[in-house]
Amino acid sequence: MSEQPAGQGSEQTAEQSLPEAPENPLPEMVLVAAVAENGVIARDGAIPWDLREDMLHFRRTTTGHAIIMGRTTYQEMGALPNRTSIVLTRDTSFTADDAIVVHTIDEALQAAARTHPGQPAMVVGGAQTYRLALEAGAQTQILSEVHQSPEGDTYYPEFDREEWAEERREPHDGFDIVWLHRKHA
Ligand SMILES: NC(=O)c1ccc[n+]([C@@H]2O[C@H](COP(=O)([O-])OP(=O)(O)OC[C@H]3O[C@@H](n4cnc5c(N)ncnc54)[C@H](OP(=O)(O)O)[C@@H]3O)[C@@H](O)[C@H]2O)c1
Repeated sequence: MSEQPAGQGSEQTAEQSLPEAPENPLPEMVLVAAVAENGVIARDGAIPWDLREDMLHFRRTTTGHAIIMGRTTYQEMGALPNRTSIVLTRDTSFTADDAIVVHTIDEALQAAARTHPGQPAMVVGGAQTYRLALEAGAQTQILSEVHQSPEGDTYYPEFDREEWAEERREPHDGFDIVWLHRKHA
């Protein structure tokens, strides 16, 4: 059997046939949400509780990161300071001065990788956007489990708890923060 030096001959070497590594690998997706006992996350376009400690947790967890949100949530809360806001919409004419506008979750992740290389991308809602991220394989959920069952019209998507390991639980006044990691991420 004769051997050819690598790179010679008509056949591609294994090295040549490998796809090029992306400049910035896609980031881990971390969902950050506050969810009531009945699954409610909003009513009439607003969050139906007022938990200052949870707001502080949200700010601490997302500051310095790319945050991915749906167009509805963006129009409610706007872009947030000290974060890169990435807004998902199907509307190709939608523009925003203070946010990056994207049309798919993959584009959102690419924008997060470009602006915050090596860091997780924080998915901050609302319901449609959480669902998209879970379906796209998000690895982590940081959920504030609010000890209330208010009336509402927007619900956190259902997911199979068996597929997620609870890594940490932090009790607070009126809510617990839980860190869930996908078992087969
Ligand atoms: N409790 C919490 O932690 C929390 C956190 C965040 C938000 N919220 C609440 O959640 C509510 C909003 O939730 P929501 O589910 O109605 O809206 P959303 O997820 O904020 O935004 C929905 C919009 O995202 C875009 N979108 C959805 N799927 C898409 C896809 N596959 N490709 C491209 N764009 C897509 C569409 O925008 P276009 O219509 O422009 O195409 C859609 O109308 C608000 O009331 C807010 O208060 C609660």
